[in-house]
Amino acid sequence: MNVLLTGGLGYIGSHTCVELLNAGHQAVIADNLCNAYGSVLDYIEQITGKRPIFYECDVQDRDAMERVFTENKIDAVIHFAGLKAVGESCRIPLAYYRNNLDSTLTLLETMERHGCKRLVFSSSATVYGPDNPVPYREDMPCHVATSPYGWTKAMIEQIIRDYVSANPDFSAVLLRYFNPVGAHESGLIGDDPNGVPNNLMPYIARVAGRQLEKLTVFGDDYDTPDGTCLRDYLHVVDLAKGHICALDYAAERTGVDAINLGTGNGVSVLELLHTFIRVNGVDVPYVIGGRRDGDLARCYANAEKAERVLHWKTEKTVEDMCRDSWNFIVKHSK
Ligand code: NAD
Ligand code: UFG
Repeated sequence: MNVLLTGGLGYIGSHTCVELLNAGHQAVIADNLCNAYGSVLDYIEQITGKRPIFYECDVQDRDAMERVFTENKIDAVIHFAGLKAVGESCRIPLAYYRNNLDSTLTLLETMERHGCKRLVFSSSATVYGPDNPVPYREDMPCHVATSPYGWTKAMIEQIIRDYVSANPDFSAVLLRYFNPVGAHESGLIGDDPNGVPNNLMPYIARVAGRQLEKLTVFGDDYDTPDGTCLRDYLHVVDLAKGHICALDYAAERTGVDAINLGTGNGVSVLELLHTFIRVNGVDVPYVIGGRRDGDLARCYANAEKAERVLHWKTEKTVEDMCRDSWNFIVKHSK
């Protein structure tokens, strides 16, 4: 299958590209490099022995997308491209709505013109909002997002649902990711955020690498076993493999389906931190600070549907996630 990966040089897209190529598919990437480096193409080639076709372009750009679809016969699209920082989305909401919604509309219009009817979309656990009880199930109502970023995901899910209602021969899978962490075992690709990381694992890794002085744990007074928040961390390579299963699923059916990609387990901030310290034999100084605005005490998946319909479940452990995140930092800083 010839698959277009929008945002395919980013963290999740690059790992998915590796799994796609390893599974014998062809990959075309469209990425504007607003949060990625062109060198990731070389790393993908080093890992797989194959180089994806690459377009440096914005998915909002109709002419550029027309060119991608004219020059390649695209069988299916995985739509990763988007801005993803929750805090930033509260400061510059219009940029988030413009980028995330516009890119999706341009993509769907271009797919329609070219008769491409298979889409896998990167949604997020954030669509469950603050009111649903954990573990989150796909049939729970998703009516209240907690940030402009979260709203873009909820709105895009709705846009895709409406499009599928009007086009019953279209097939879309909405993958709701929980907390992807870790890196490819080669250490060549991984999560490499610009500036000070917002997310826990890259922050821990930078403290361990002495690029940051200490971690602040945002609150230890939650109603959880150790007082810190619970999240469903999953290894990015497991997540990437989930996309291959989703492509197969989309090929077998029509309609739209939302599916959680998570482990089904809640792991606390302190558990993740202490596992990182233990498996890597490193020091990670930390202090307990106040709660971060908008954080939920618990966020983890009911992961049964993915196993039932995609025949996918996570294989890697929290130890693997911590080891591979650190390996990426060590290899990358050389
Ligand atoms: P990332 O920032 O590493 O990757 C996104 C890629 O999209 C980047 O390479 C960026 O350059 C590109 N991009 C952004 N806007 C674009 C545009 N208009 N045109 C072309 N390229 C564009 O992020 P990621 O962690 O790999 O996330 C991929 C997707 O998964 C995003 O949609 C994100 O919202 C979603 N998601 C991520 C997480 C997470 O924790 N990482 C969780 C849930 C959902
Ligand atoms: N945390 C700290 N210190 C830090 C960073 C994070 O204690 O320096 C804590 C947070 O308070 C939270 C946990 O670590 O309890 C995880 O935080 P992350 O920022 O890594 O992840 P979130 O669960 O907050 O956010 C993720 C994705 C978002 C998505 C959100 C909701 O990054 O894209 O899940 O699904 F919107």
